[in-house]
Amino acid sequence: VGKPNRQVAVFGAGYIGLVTGACLAELGHRVVVRDISADKISLLKAGDVPIYEPGLGDMIARNKERLTFTLDLREALDGAEVAYVCVDTPPSASGDADLSKVWSVVRSLEGASHLKAVAVKSTVPVGTGTRVRAALDAAGLAHVGYAANPEFTAEGTAVNDFMHPDRIVVGASDEATARLIAELHEGVDGPVVVMDVRSAEMVKLASNALLATKISFINEIATLCEKTGADVEDVAGAVGLDHRLGRHFLRPGIGWGGSCFPKDSEALRQLANNTGYHLQLLSAVIEVNNLQKRRAVQKLKDALGDLAGARVALLGLTFKPGTDDMREAPSAVLAARLLAEGAEVRCWDPMARPAETEPWTSTSRHASPEAAVEGADAAIVVTEWPQLREVDWAQTAAVMRRPVMFDGRNMLDPAEMRAAGWTYMSVGRP
Ligand code: UGA
Repeated sequence: VGKPNRQVAVFGAGYIGLVTGACLAELGHRVVVRDISADKISLLKAGDVPIYEPGLGDMIARNKERLTFTLDLREALDGAEVAYVCVDTPPSASGDADLSKVWSVVRSLEGASHLKAVAVKSTVPVGTGTRVRAALDAAGLAHVGYAANPEFTAEGTAVNDFMHPDRIVVGASDEATARLIAELHEGVDGPVVVMDVRSAEMVKLASNALLATKISFINEIATLCEKTGADVEDVAGAVGLDHRLGRHFLRPGIGWGGSCFPKDSEALRQLANNTGYHLQLLSAVIEVNNLQKRRAVQKLKDALGDLAGARVALLGLTFKPGTDDMREAPSAVLAARLLAEGAEVRCWDPMARPAETEPWTSTSRHASPEAAVEGADAAIVVTEWPQLREVDWAQTAAVMRRPVMFDGRNMLDPAEMRAAGWTYMSVGRP
């Protein structure tokens, strides 16, 4: 007996919506992805993918029989049994998540009485499900089930993370809805964990906050390693061998960025504040992350004396390698601080989307790391792009005004860099 294939409407053609839509189609379901951006939909209809995500384009292409894109609400809802809400929930002025796009999707479901369930993948504050439930009830959709089904996919590995997750979290208020969402994931290689809606919403926020905590923690230990002469790479490696602690997310660096950790940690902090409880640990985690970026600039200042008039090359702009995403990238903070100190900023990145990079990159972006550092007083490794391992650093040191480097990702070898003529600094290593 084959599993029942479902008709699914996915709302939002961003990272989450496209990965969800493509993977559900890959699992055999019929999927219509709806977005309100005419540009995105026309690109997708033409067979292009508006974002860079490994494997996503191929998956969309090989499922085109079952996966379509539309601007038209009625086309998306026609025959749909499940509506997946995958819109973005950016921070609002108060630091709470802005749910306006979620509400506009929920409002658009009015009259879709053939729906069996509404599932929310967007990251939302705890309690959102209760409010959506009430809105569905008021819209005459009381019979439609509700599920919180948060995503745990990371950019760059999202397709694989969806198909081989550590867990699929389903928060539902009734068993039939939980079963339906679990069944949609049949074929996915990971355990389904069912709980109530609020708990599922909390799992998402708690997971990202704990990951961010691990990074900020090792970044603080790295700072202390610098002050005491220890080597954080040896420390993190050995700490991580304790299976209770785990080796992941203990890479020290220039601080975490991206579309998730900064937004979600702030949203969790504000969620707590709204209840009158101040999350002290998380506040410190955020503060350590802010400091980490400023400390990078301070290190250059210490090495160069004065940053006014200094020419500084940022190597890597995206928040991590393997993506073109500039959201909350540490490079933007570094550039702003350097410019404020009177430095001249130049940069290189193999993939950052020009439209999303800061205005300063338009005049100062170079085609190679070598070109970006030529004649500069200092270089900062901001993103650990593998291309940087291929650079002939001895040759590049020779074309710099002053060969000073802050390796914000500990990707290069200190002894080799010093032998190549660099004044080399990194994070938490002697
Ligand atoms: C993150 C989570 O890893 C996903 O599980 C989650 O689903 C996703 O957010 C989300 O909420 O949608 P992502 O933002 O794509 O995924 O990127 P990560 O690979 O987690 O990296 C986040 C930041 O932490 C990057 O700036 C990275 O450079 C930094 N990082 C990561 C470190 O500085 N050290 C580490 O050890 C790991």
